[in-house]
Amino acid sequence: AVTRTFSIIKPDATRRNLTGAVTKMLEEAGLRVVASKRIHMTREQAEGFYAVHKERPFYGELCDFMTSGPVVVQVLEGEDAVKRNRDVMGATNPADAAEGTIRKTFAESIEANTVHGSDSEENAKIEIDYFFDKDEIVG
Ligand code: CMP
Repeated sequence: AVTRTFSIIKPDATRRNLTGAVTKMLEEAGLRVVASKRIHMTREQAEGFYAVHKERPFYGELCDFMTSGPVVVQVLEGEDAVKRNRDVMGATNPADAAEGTIRKTFAESIEANTVHGSDSEENAKIEIDYFFDKDEIVG
């Protein structure tokens, strides 16, 4: 089925002017950008978005990193969008990511790993709602 997922192009990628290159890989993987905006996340936004990781040792640094520069938040649509996006992103740690994936191609480290993507359809809905109003998504 055609579904939606949520993506973030992270500060390491915007800093290196890779927004277009990353988006091209998403599109070539069969995903369509149906919403997109460049924002500088507030500390509150980052902490809320990553609240599930609050108890993890990397939570503070993760929130520092995600607020260190602009990000591009996107809604992606396509056949089985969550899995399709996860496949093209590659493993969280670029050292483990497969050839041809976004993280293998561009990521600098497990933290500066270029992209975020929702890990389930349920979380995709929550994450899309966290950053987008209904009228900002044009399918
Ligand atoms: P993301 O999909 O955005 O969700 C949580 C993020 O935490 C993850 O990608 C990584 O970039 C980041 N992170 C930093 N350190 C770690 C770690 N040790 N294990 C897992 N994720 C980490």
